[in-house]
Amino acid sequence: MLLRDGTEEDLPALLEIHNDAVRTLKAIWTDRQETLESRRDWFRSRKSAGLPVIVAEDESGQVVGYGSFGPYREKEGYRLTVEHSVYVLPQARGLGAGRLLLERLIELARGQGYHVLVAAIDGENGGSIALHEKCGFKVVGRLPQVGMKFGDWLDLVLMTLVLDDHANPPAGH
Ligand SMILES: CC(C)(COP(=O)(O)OP(=O)(O)OC[C@H]1O[C@@H](n2cnc3c(N)ncnc32)[C@H](O)[C@@H]1OP(=O)(O)O)[C@@H](O)C(=O)NCCC(=O)NCCS
Repeated sequence: MLLRDGTEEDLPALLEIHNDAVRTLKAIWTDRQETLESRRDWFRSRKSAGLPVIVAEDESGQVVGYGSFGPYREKEGYRLTVEHSVYVLPQARGLGAGRLLLERLIELARGQGYHVLVAAIDGENGGSIALHEKCGFKVVGRLPQVGMKFGDWLDLVLMTLVLDDHANPPAGH
């Protein structure tokens, strides 16, 4: 498994991974599939903001997963916190791609000076919760029934990883 920065050439693969999750999973709380154009807008806005979009490629060169992070909330007081997502194609799950992607996102967020990484996970998504625990995240909250999909109420589990030990925000913040 190889990790690299995503490029616009990866957008069809990223679109397929994203839309498969929209169609089949409670991990993403929407029924609205994206288009190549909307994914391109998302990709460009991430890149122009200096935010990563990374991909995992298998031995045959197929993109099997991706990860990214972006703003957690818009108000400026949240600017040292980012929220990430990681998605792996169904046939490639359990082979280590998710962990590689998440570990790289942690490194990148720390390297860019962010203080906290947030994961907002469907409460039934034991696989994602296990992955995050293995990478050092702690469950810090559960919001019962704040979402719905496929006829069920869904709980949102919030997990965080504090990326540095600064007692106060760095000077200039
Ligand atoms: C969650 C997801 C990203 C994990 O990626 P993955 O490539 O399947 O996971 P990995 O093979 O890297 O496993 C990483 C660790 O998590 C654990 N894990 C992964 N899936 C698990 C599962 N379903 N149950 C229990 N543990 C699991 C593994 O045991 C592994 O631990 P190890 O490194 O000590 O062996 C992937 O399954 C996925 O894309 N799921 C659908 C989308 C999704 O839920 N995204 C997250 C939204 S918050």
